Amino acid sequence: MRISELPLSDEVKDLLSSLGYSELYPTQEAAIEAGLLDGANLLLSTPTASGKTLIAMMAASRLLTESEEKVVYLAPLRALAFEKYEEFSAMERLRRANGRNVRVTISTGDYDSSGEELGYADLLVLTNEKFDSLARHRPSWMRKVGLYIFDEVHLLGDEDRGPTLEVVITRILSGGERAQLLALSATVSNAGQLARWLKAKSVSMNWRPVPLKQGVAYDGRVFFSDSGVLELSVSSGRPAMDLAIDSIRSGGQSLIFAETRKRAVSIAKISSKYVQKFLGFDDGSRLRQLAKKVMAESEATEVSRLLAGCIEGGVAFHHAGLATAHRRIVEKAFREGLIKLLVATPTLAAGINLPARRVVIASIYRYDASFGESRPISVMDYKQMCGRAGRPRFDEYGEALVVAQSEEEMNALMEAYIRGEPEPIRSQLASPSSFRTHTLGVIASSPSLTLKQLKKFFLSTLLAQQFKEYAVMSRLEAAVKYLEGNGLIRLQQEEVRGTPLGKRVATLYIDPESALVFLRALKERRDTAEDITPGLLQLIVMVPDFEPKMALRGRDRAEAEAFVEQYSHLLFYPEDLESGFSDSFRSLLMLHAWINEWSEDRILQVLGVEPGDLHRSVEVAEWLAYAFAELAKLVGYKNVAKSLDLLQVRIDVGCRAELLPLVQLRGIGRVRARNLYQAGYRTISSIASASVSDLGRVPSIGEALASDIRSQALALVSSMKG
Ligand SMILES: Nc1ncnc2c1ncn2[C@@H]1O[C@H](COP(=O)(O)OP(=O)(O)OP(=O)(O)O)[C@@H](O)[C@H]1O
Ligand SMILES: [Mg+2]
Repeated sequence: MRISELPLSDEVKDLLSSLGYSELYPTQEAAIEAGLLDGANLLLSTPTASGKTLIAMMAASRLLTESEEKVVYLAPLRALAFEKYEEFSAMERLRRANGRNVRVTISTGDYDSSGEELGYADLLVLTNEKFDSLARHRPSWMRKVGLYIFDEVHLLGDEDRGPTLEVVITRILSGGERAQLLALSATVSNAGQLARWLKAKSVSMNWRPVPLKQGVAYDGRVFFSDSGVLELSVSSGRPAMDLAIDSIRSGGQSLIFAETRKRAVSIAKISSKYVQKFLGFDDGSRLRQLAKKVMAESEATEVSRLLAGCIEGGVAFHHAGLATAHRRIVEKAFREGLIKLLVATPTLAAGINLPARRVVIASIYRYDASFGESRPISVMDYKQMCGRAGRPRFDEYGEALVVAQSEEEMNALMEAYIRGEPEPIRSQLASPSSFRTHTLGVIASSPSLTLKQLKKFFLSTLLAQQFKEYAVMSRLEAAVKYLEGNGLIRLQQEEVRGTPLGKRVATLYIDPESALVFLRALKERRDTAEDITPGLLQLIVMVPDFEPKMALRGRDRAEAEAFVEQYSHLLFYPEDLESGFSDSFRSLLMLHAWINEWSEDRILQVLGVEPGDLHRSVEVAEWLAYAFAELAKLVGYKNVAKSLDLLQVRIDVGCRAELLPLVQLRGIGRVRARNLYQAGYRTISSIASASVSDLGRVPSIGEALASDIRSQALALVSSMKG
């Protein structure tokens, strides 16, 4: 079917054709036939790269040009949200019925915002968490949503991300407003059941636009599932690397999935020496530029030096320990073909479009922290990783190869993974933590709710469809009892209501238990005016919302003892050799080091925390400091609230309190602020009254920035006078 034959306006057809689409894929045709453009709810479960995004775009374009309703697109991960936001921004060329251009926006953070300000947009790209937090504030535009798109909906089965997504969908399903639902999923074995829950028609198809050959590599040869065999000409004893280089030799790009970060880095390091030989004429100088950019983009650490070194050889590694800025640089350079080989951990997999002709899965095992050992990955994860190979517009074919350690394993891999079916999606909502969090969320976000309605809500979850009714009800009862017993909700006859505290906890978007841990601790010290920063940090890292939680390693002993010696009187709970250190004590050391201006490199060298984990911890800690400050204000602890307000900014910037006046200036982070401070510029007014040339001589400042911050300072001084 051609795009030109679709029942869409000429404007939409022009847009789609300008984006390079002319003929529909069979998967897309099937969606149209199932009623995509007539408002039907659909669950599309089709292979990777089969064009699900265009299906979403067609439905969105129709709605935006033919109605006054809004479109919400929900992604499980920020990186994917950004990729789709860029893609969907093309729809800004379309016009709404009133003649004005479509507006597209993205929002992924700031969970305590009413979200009213997003109402100007017609298409909103949000993460599932962001939408869940917005639903608790109930912005008025939510009633005008006519189409919800859930991407990667198979993540309902993901332990971490599943519960929020399930509650978000349940909310929409039981909300009563009539909106079209479009759920996009990888191939799943229980699509029918999922579709029934979604009240959607199921469209499943095993079709891929670019053929994907799958095989197992063992002992210098690749055995393909279609019975072809490939002899490898190189053999360095490192099969994953040999396989990747073999494809680069013939002009493709390769992606290796390694089981751990360490393995990813070591494979990248060794490969860069070999890949260098295959670089094009001007690749060398472009890669050197890119390496420089990596070093300039954030604080220099051992990780960034390693990354820059690999990049000069046309190779990069990609894992959660990398700073976000570095991850973006690497993804972009791989997409542009400059980086030939990317070695990643499995976190890269979901939904992203990458030009890898060959994907190599170095090992089918992956370290699982909750089991404390390596375990085989799921068939679903395997298919997702393979699916990064052979993406339309990049390659004519793709290859996904998995490395076997023995002949026995080779046969097992062929059966279980290559020929195997992905696991069915199972609800993950049952955990006590998700139950109490979401029960409070549901109660606090409705003006009035009866117990019966609350039960009905939880009986509409996927959990209720997959498990016995009493299993769901007993969990709900436990959650209600917990929330009532802790003063977060009140039961009056048949009605349940959030208390002011409960409502605030819900809008702050934290686990109720996090709030209770904090409030319980405060009771002990009351509204102290003492500087209890270490104790506040201890509370932040110990609550359930804080992650990643990092425990002490053997070699951190000395560092830990020195900390305890100095600060134990300020901690809320004892930490020492006798009573034991909490499971997040290294996180506490790290945050304390961070707000005392340790460099990122020192934090890495001494505490073994990589920049990506540091930044993620800082982000979560800042949010918790904010939430705690809000709770302290609510219960009337003014001094503690003030300490937390200050702590929040210190966590955000990573500095001591004395630098806070200086970091208000644009272009001044903690390093430059410290340099200014050392040079005697300690206040805004001292900068306003300095000369540009004097300021410019301060290390890391320079004339241009000097002149800029001086004008900023002058403006601030005059606004303070005014
Ligand atoms: N009808 C079409 N004609 C040409 N190219 C298309 C068509 N539909 C989609 N594509 C291209 O196919 C590629 C993959 O599409 P998309 O990202 O939507 O895959 P997907 O089904 O969402 O896969 P995944 O499950 O991995 O997220 C994109 O580059 C897209 O532009
Ligand atoms: Mg997709």
